[in-house]
Amino acid sequence: MSSRETVVPLSVVGASGGRAPRDTLRRPIHDLRISVMDRCNFRCPYCMPRETFHDSYRYLKSTERLDFAEILRLARIFVRAGVKKIRITGGEPLLRPNLADLIGDLTQLHGVEDIALTTNGILLAKYAHELKAAGLNRITVSLDTLDPEVFAKMSGGFGGVGDVLAGIEQARRAGLAPVKINTVVQRGVNDHTVLDLLAHFRGTGVIVRFIEYMDVGTRNHWNPALVVPSRELAALISARWPLAPRDREYRGEVAERHVFTDGSGEVGFISSVSQPFCGDCSRARISSDGSFYTCLFATQGTDLRAPLRAGASDDELYELVRGVWTGRRDRYSEQRASLRATDLHKVEMNYIGG
Ligand SMILES: C[S@@+](CC[C@H](N)C(=O)[O-])C[C@H]1O[C@@H](n2cnc3c(N)ncnc32)[C@H](O)[C@@H]1O
Ligand code: SF4
Repeated sequence: MSSRETVVPLSVVGASGGRAPRDTLRRPIHDLRISVMDRCNFRCPYCMPRETFHDSYRYLKSTERLDFAEILRLARIFVRAGVKKIRITGGEPLLRPNLADLIGDLTQLHGVEDIALTTNGILLAKYAHELKAAGLNRITVSLDTLDPEVFAKMSGGFGGVGDVLAGIEQARRAGLAPVKINTVVQRGVNDHTVLDLLAHFRGTGVIVRFIEYMDVGTRNHWNPALVVPSRELAALISARWPLAPRDREYRGEVAERHVFTDGSGEVGFISSVSQPFCGDCSRARISSDGSFYTCLFATQGTDLRAPLRAGASDDELYELVRGVWTGRRDRYSEQRASLRATDLHKVEMNYIGG
């Protein structure tokens, strides 16, 4: 090697062997979230409020959604750009027929280290074993409370706690471990039930992660007064069961982790409102109809479906992805206060994927 050659650290070498792109803040693409379904069988008011997502709401037609071959091809291109972890989400991903087939295909991609899925859990008891057999590594189940009345309020009146718990149990039996629970906390809605939820899961190996209520999209009537800051929640929990902080497992991990000092497991806090983590954000998102988004709070995406269907080569698609990522400047959560003062039309979460 001549003295003028530089050694490229392994961390920036993509699966193709080329240099993996970094954005304007030097952030790599590490995680890819794929929304496989814009529809949902819940109407959580903080995500898909009924008054907007009513019976005559126009969802994507099935031909408008990416098919599995298209998703697989785009996933391969993102892996070439540096993606190591893929999360399947929605809307409700388990409403997508034959989802296990897609998971099976994604596991064949060279360079992918982890495939996970986020679900509201209602259909999970039926599919947990099939998903595990197809190669799914991990699952996150959303469950905001164990109180049936509060649950009904937060799911828009659909599903039931019993079905979600049955789904979690089947996921555990299938070996989708550790099962993680996502709990959105809203002041005056479910914050009085968080200790009961923890009491149920402590000591079972299931990890509960509390998420601050976020201003995703434009339809959920976000009100900062309803956000319960993670610090406040951690103090409440610690007063009952002492907690000790634990190091993040990797750079860009969204949850701040704590362990119960009595050895009964772990709890996480996702604090995108009170402690934004944009500086380490390495997540890319593909919507159900194939638009590429570089932020959960983005106002617009880049259409990948049109070039894909028009016959673009893998190299052309890769260059498109690379170009978008290298120009990325998003840090919405850090700039929330000033950006909210402007009239932003953020994309909805069911479409882009949570
Ligand atoms: C959009 S959902 C999609 C997957 C699936 N339907 C589910 O609920 O798990 C993904 C995650 O986003 C969370 N979420 C949705 N709207 C939110 C909001 N306004 N603030 C915080 N988290 C939210 C949900 O609770 C869920 O854990
Ligand atoms: S959070 Fe999940 S379950 Fe609730 S409406 Fe949104 S997509 Fe559906």
